[in-house]
Amino acid sequence: MPLPRQDDEVAIAAAGVVKRFGEVQALAGVDLEVTRGTVLALLGPNGAGKTTLVRILTTLLTPDAGTASVVGLDVVRDAARLRSRIGLAGQYAAIDENLTGLENLTMVGRLYGTSRAAAKARGRELLARFDLVEAGGRAASTYSGGMRRRLDLAAALVAEPPVLFLDEPTTGLDPRSRIGLWETIESLVAEGTTVLLTTQYLDEADRLANAIAVIDHGSVIAQGTSDELKDRVGGERVEVALETADDGAAAERALAPMSEDAPAVRDATVAVTVRSRDGVIVEAVRRLSDAGVGVADINVRRPTLDDVFLSLTGHAAEVDGNAPGGVDGDASGGVDGDASGEAP
Ligand SMILES: Nc1ncnc2c1ncn2[C@@H]1O[C@H](COP(=O)(O)OP(=O)(O)OP(=O)(O)O)[C@@H](O)[C@H]1O
Ligand SMILES: [Mg+2]
Repeated sequence: MPLPRQDDEVAIAAAGVVKRFGEVQALAGVDLEVTRGTVLALLGPNGAGKTTLVRILTTLLTPDAGTASVVGLDVVRDAARLRSRIGLAGQYAAIDENLTGLENLTMVGRLYGTSRAAAKARGRELLARFDLVEAGGRAASTYSGGMRRRLDLAAALVAEPPVLFLDEPTTGLDPRSRIGLWETIESLVAEGTTVLLTTQYLDEADRLANAIAVIDHGSVIAQGTSDELKDRVGGERVEVALETADDGAAAERALAPMSEDAPAVRDATVAVTVRSRDGVIVEAVRRLSDAGVGVADINVRRPTLDDVFLSLTGHAAEVDGNAPGGVDGDASGGVDGDASGEAP
């Protein structure tokens, strides 16, 4: 029976969720809604509060204030019932290294109360789905990072949950494995699964998500589709590479009438924001040529999510490029170590 405050179309709802760890305000009142059958990407830099929110929504942590529900079940009051309705694949994979792939999946099935035979059958099905049939009989300790991620995701799907939480599912994966995992996620969503994923990768949010929530310092600072967020940064950008940096000031004067915002000059490039891309290249070249400014190159581009992040937070998304195999590279190493011991 759905709770009255939860719409049938809403799979995940959070209102005013607060979480502190001593001095650290990890979540400062998060409001969030995820429509059934869609993907929401929770996008934010290291320490923004992404994992904390996922752990609250998956009943691993209780909020200090606020409420949250998933498929109509309250994450605190109905925690036990909720656990069988959700899957979690994490930054901190809950895989037993000593067991084989098949044994890992069978064990999860047994935890959900399935018979041994049925759990094994489901395990085999998932190994096939995630291209792990060959490796299924080997200890997980011999798996590559990408295979481990796939096994972790398979484990999250054992109980066929309608809602899936993926905490940085592709961190540490090579580009090919990333795309493979994206395709897997897309096919799950096509079958009706609701997904909340966290990511530091703007292109990942762009590719997978119907809606994006940008989180920074424990608060959602922007929410919308990728296009809506890009629109907030305002229009298209015309970028002109000048033949010589000496022409910077002249180019700035020449392009100023094209926009309400002042052109930005940096070394030998000038960028100006325009409402529409129609005819802007021709106009920019004409204005520059009239001013006697030599143009080496010119292009128009939509703002990227990087631009969005920069304009919303005043700092670039701090993607940690050297985090191997999903092990976190930030300063909160001790904290992260604690979290790895917990399983759903
Ligand atoms: N168990 C804990 N004890 C103390 N502080 C914690 C704990 N868990 C998280 N924190 C702190 O709360 C803040 C949010 O952490 P969280 O792990 O949610 O961030 P995140 O967005 O997942 O970051 P990352 O991108 O590095 O995974 C950080 O400052 C972190 O150090
Ligand atoms: Mg995290």
